[in-house]
Amino acid sequence: MTISDWKKKYANGIPITLLAAHDATFAQIIEDVGIDGILVGDSLRHTFFGDSTTVTMTLDHMIYHTQAVKNGAKNTLIIADMPFMTYNISVEETLRNAAKLIQAGAQAVKCEVRDIHLPTIDRLVQEGIPVMGHIGLQPQYIHETGGYVLKGTSDVEQKELMHLAKSLSDIGAFSVVLEKVPIGVTKQITEAIPMLTIGIGAGPYCSGQVLVTNDALGFTPNFSPKFLKKYLNGRQLMVEALKEYKTEVETGQFPTESHGYTGK
Ligand code: KIV
Repeated sequence: MTISDWKKKYANGIPITLLAAHDATFAQIIEDVGIDGILVGDSLRHTFFGDSTTVTMTLDHMIYHTQAVKNGAKNTLIIADMPFMTYNISVEETLRNAAKLIQAGAQAVKCEVRDIHLPTIDRLVQEGIPVMGHIGLQPQYIHETGGYVLKGTSDVEQKELMHLAKSLSDIGAFSVVLEKVPIGVTKQITEAIPMLTIGIGAGPYCSGQVLVTNDALGFTPNFSPKFLKKYLNGRQLMVEALKEYKTEVETGQFPTESHGYTGK
């Protein structure tokens, strides 16, 4: 899967599927299923590390998880999140940081874009590093916004979202994530720009959708926002299986001789 495959798929009327994943085991399953891309999202601070914020993500950790995902999914388009403040200091530092993620196995990087970042994003694209923007709810700026709130509810916010989406498209970003944006606003953006729009909590009028794998599989029971559909009760299934293992070991049902070696 490449970015041009994404564009062809959407041009043929089929939405893009993207999942955030953070390790080789999940990445391999996602690739086997034929999902179009894996986002090594900084959401791993929640799912992998148990943190309450993504602000704590570091570039070194993102490189490590990108390598792990690449090991599991060699033929899937991988997009790595640029962690908080790794694309803000200077263009040179941003280029160096993005290059490290590409060398770790990503084909593109994602940035939570504000106006001030546009010249830097422009430079990344000119240097041949594909960029996915991320607008709407931006978890890296949670301390400013004060919560994981819907974005695009006022005229000012709607204009700002449209402005950012158009600017990213003009610069040549290949796609933009719209997170927690009202359906009508998403529709306007998707219709107004040629760039692919990937939604999460943004309704059906996007070029594609993204969910965090752990959420979609029901491994995060305390996270149940309106936009999330859980395709599996993963936690419950795992609890049942692990209880069975515990019982079988404790009662001598596992292992049996058939699980052992005879030495021959
Ligand atoms: O970090 C992440 O997984 C993301 C998605 C929720 C879009 O940014």
